[in-house]
Amino acid sequence: KTTGSITVEGKTYPTDQWTNATSSILSHVSKQLYSQENHPLYITRKLIESQFPGPTYGNYTEGNPVVTTAQNFDVLGFPADHPGRSRTDTYYVNEKTVLRTHTSAHQAEYFRRMAEENSTEDGYTVAADVYRRDAIDRSHYPVFHQMEGARLWKRTPGMTASESAAQIWEDLKKLPTHDVEVGDPNPVTHAERNPLQSEHHSQEEVEAIAAHLKRNLELLVIRIFSEASKVSQASGTQQEPLKIRWVEAYFPFTSPSWELEVFWQGDWLEVLGCGVIKQILLNNSGVPDRIGWAFGLGLERIAMLLFEIPDIRLFWSKDARFLSQFKDDKIVRFQPFSKFPECYKDVAFWLSSATTSAAGGAVPFHDNDMMEIVRECAKDIVEDVKLVDEFVHPKTGRKSLCYRINYRSLEHTLTNKEVNVVHEQVRQTLVEKFGVEIR
Ligand code: PHE
Repeated sequence: KTTGSITVEGKTYPTDQWTNATSSILSHVSKQLYSQENHPLYITRKLIESQFPGPTYGNYTEGNPVVTTAQNFDVLGFPADHPGRSRTDTYYVNEKTVLRTHTSAHQAEYFRRMAEENSTEDGYTVAADVYRRDAIDRSHYPVFHQMEGARLWKRTPGMTASESAAQIWEDLKKLPTHDVEVGDPNPVTHAERNPLQSEHHSQEEVEAIAAHLKRNLELLVIRIFSEASKVSQASGTQQEPLKIRWVEAYFPFTSPSWELEVFWQGDWLEVLGCGVIKQILLNNSGVPDRIGWAFGLGLERIAMLLFEIPDIRLFWSKDARFLSQFKDDKIVRFQPFSKFPECYKDVAFWLSSATTSAAGGAVPFHDNDMMEIVRECAKDIVEDVKLVDEFVHPKTGRKSLCYRINYRSLEHTLTNKEVNVVHEQVRQTLVEKFGVEIR
């Protein structure tokens, strides 16, 4: 029923039953905040790139977020039933085309590029906008930015596993050391949870790759958080010595895999995911003779800590009171300008028992559908949306939901009239799209 087309970055794609990328989402494409000089995301990107310099690493950006489902999922080994593939979590342009959900969608291209004859780089970083359907609150926005990095080593023909590991240990010696406390209680590989890719690697190679990966990322995080503590020191926040720890993780495209966590202002915070690249990916990308590591991180998360930015919507602000605070690649504490008043409105409704849409088809209702409707109607004048009540009628078995929407603009005081218009739109859209009965 939804035959039409969508044009993104000058290219037109046919739409189909899978299409759920909305015009307000697409309006964020091509903003490239990470390339806007003096923008906090730009400053954060540059800080990270400075840890991965040439000639070893090339530093890149990817402006166009449209990728195939093969690039975003299949090539990376995502199983067919992985939740990340679902329309409730991912923006589809059509069945075979999505707005990338992570920068890893470009891994294979970058590996292939390194295989080219004139390539002199053994690693890269890439910054890009990524898209995910998610909750609405002050740290989630459906468009955000990630940075990914990878480093490869060549195994020349005839090289033994020990020689291959030795060259990685040699490269590790060239990196600085540090004296920050690091928790890393687990062995590098674990038979079930973090297996050695035994058909491709020896244990000693993986030990070397893991050591190089860990040192690099520790140095990165120490760099970032020592900058952040300078800022919060200046603002008088109590300082604790930096602590970091490695936690086992799982990604379909790395094994073993880890997350790096930092103890920051009283909490353990996850800052990045990483691991030893699955060899099958390298083999399929024209570099079967190379082994290596990759990592990925969210730029907003880090920038919010570094600059003490309290609301993720601010990154999209064109307000000079925001933008003029950041200059000369310096990390400074964001000085909040007056916060405009909040306005809470509830919407309570019965899900139609068959959860049948007005158009007749059965439509299951997902939390992210609520988020999307509020995004579409309220654009950027919503700060958060919470499910505050859920109730199943004991006799009819019908389900009732109540969401509380906090409307607040970053730019002006909302009038009651303005909020009522938007809120009424939310109610109507719920009825039209999901056949709910407003209570
Ligand atoms: N793409 C992963 C994510 O978005 C992060 C990652 C990148 C993990 C590279 C491992 C290697 O969560």
